[in-house]
Amino acid sequence: MKRSPASLWSLLWLFSAASFPLVESHHILGLFVNVHRSQLMVHLAVCQALIQKGHQLTLVTTLPLDDHDIRGNVTHILIPWEQPREDSDHHTPSDFFLRLERMFNRLEKSGDFLNLPEWKVFLQGAPNPHFDLMLLGYHFNDYLLGVAAHFKCPVAIISTQQPTGFVNSLMGNPEERWYVPQPYDSQQRSGISAWIFGIWEKLMEIMARRVMQKIYSLHFPEPQYPGFETMRRSVALTLSNHHAISEGPIAPVLPNMVDIGGILLEQNIKENSQEISAINRSIIVFSLGTRFTWQKSPHSLISTFTKAFSQFPNYDIYWTYDGANQSIISVDYPHIKISKWWPQCELLASGKVRLFITHGGKGSVSEALYYGVPMLGLPLLGDQRANLQRMQAKKWGLTLSTHNLTHNELHKAMARILGGSEYTKAISKASQLYRDRPMNSSDLATFWLEYIIRHDGARNLYSPSRQLTWIENLSIDVYVTIYGGLILIVIVLRKMNSLL
Ligand SMILES: *[C@@H]1O[C@H](CO)[C@@H](O)[C@H](O)[C@H]1NC(C)=O
Ligand SMILES: *[C@@H]1O[C@H](CO)[C@@H](O)[C@H](O)[C@H]1NC(C)=O
Ligand SMILES: *[C@@H]1O[C@H](CO)[C@@H](O)[C@H](O)[C@H]1NC(C)=O
Ligand SMILES: *[C@@H]1O[C@H](CO)[C@@H](O)[C@H](O)[C@H]1NC(C)=O
Ligand SMILES: *[C@@H]1O[C@H](CO)[C@@H](O)[C@H](O)[C@H]1NC(C)=O
Repeated sequence: MKRSPASLWSLLWLFSAASFPLVESHHILGLFVNVHRSQLMVHLAVCQALIQKGHQLTLVTTLPLDDHDIRGNVTHILIPWEQPREDSDHHTPSDFFLRLERMFNRLEKSGDFLNLPEWKVFLQGAPNPHFDLMLLGYHFNDYLLGVAAHFKCPVAIISTQQPTGFVNSLMGNPEERWYVPQPYDSQQRSGISAWIFGIWEKLMEIMARRVMQKIYSLHFPEPQYPGFETMRRSVALTLSNHHAISEGPIAPVLPNMVDIGGILLEQNIKENSQEISAINRSIIVFSLGTRFTWQKSPHSLISTFTKAFSQFPNYDIYWTYDGANQSIISVDYPHIKISKWWPQCELLASGKVRLFITHGGKGSVSEALYYGVPMLGLPLLGDQRANLQRMQAKKWGLTLSTHNLTHNELHKAMARILGGSEYTKAISKASQLYRDRPMNSSDLATFWLEYIIRHDGARNLYSPSRQLTWIENLSIDVYVTIYGGLILIVIVLRKMNSLL
């Protein structure tokens, strides 16, 4: 059958229309201020997914962006700011209450950023742009919800880990401390001790909320703006960089709390370069993360690693190293490859990595999980210990303490992981679970963000528990009424009995 040119054209037109995003393009504000670089990378991955769907973004950050951090139709507003460190004395005080006081002082000062002239220009500068949605990089910064009130747009937050007590309280999600260990707890406690810790954390949260309320009222005063708690209750959606059904723990979550674990990996997948495809030996990757530097490390620590590594000549060891004696190390040990930067993700993706020695940052553990590479953990700070304890408990590898690390210990642990297949097996299985999803995280995140915009903030997702006080939320009023009533009846009956 012959087609007329007209129908051919319409066919072509249909084809080209189908290959472009048909969704309406929205203007989205990303507010990612005063966060760590590793958190920012997760936020930007969500933005990159939105750009791929044809949306237009305006990003406000306090950290500079590199060209390859984000590509596409983006307006970037850089407001350089770093919270000054208290330098009164360098060591952290041992007094617990002093430390607490310091923490809250720091929180209070985190709002100073809102006094910068650059910020005021962004917020008040004419003409005010229209935003369909605000994305907030969430990090103890609830007062920034005032910005969504200012632009009169719905707001969604991005949390870089499993939902914590703070996020649960924000969304009205039930806390089940009995059986849901917290991401920062290196012991991964459950039961009574976890419950008691939950109460302690609640107290901290109440205090932190007060501080943040103060910052909010200063910069977004009523009645010009809705109140702080009203804005907290207005958050429409939480995206968590976590994948509960494979990483655990299993916990109840509201429908407007969506897991997008792995989005950073999805957005960073590249074709393997020629150098990486040419790797023809088994390799070990060793990196302690971007916040660690070898420049100040003592010679003894460096030689602990070189001594241990010298016993594995059958592996090429890719060591991220920025310290002294680089040339000496590579001459003495030709199988140790040293560089300030290795394409870690691409190396892990190459299928040649037999062991990943890592500090256990959330991003690195996710990469190892995604590509099924067993780990040897050397935690340095923050949540890394907790991440690695969980990793070890699941038999994805081993964790060593970084205090008094000896080359013998290191050698033994490496040999155990490289020699036995149990770790590789366990993490390959976990990797299959991690990847087995109905939809990738990029599509999932953009679907829900577009959903919020399509339905004007999607009040239908709103949990009624957000309107309750904590007494009502825990049904304490109900229990008091029922048990109080029962006790009253018993007392009355006894009284009557003794009177008769
Ligand atoms: C970016 O988006 C805006 C608004 O949709 C449009 O006016 C502008 O031409 C776009 N720029 C590029 C480089 O695509
Ligand atoms: C996510 O999945 C969709 C559909 O399978 C695909 O078109 C898209 O490229 C994927 N995105 C990423 C970042 O992998
Ligand atoms: C392995 O790769 C190296 C370079 O990376 C090359 O010199 C060597 O010949 C290769 N060996 C084999 C057996 O392919
Ligand atoms: C560099 O190598 C020299 C000679 O082996 C050694 O004395 C020195 O301590 C090394 N420096 C560091 C920082 O490892
Ligand atoms: C380990 O290091 C601590 C100091 O960090 C030191 O007090 C202790 O004696 C060391 N233990 C051993 C077995 O070397």
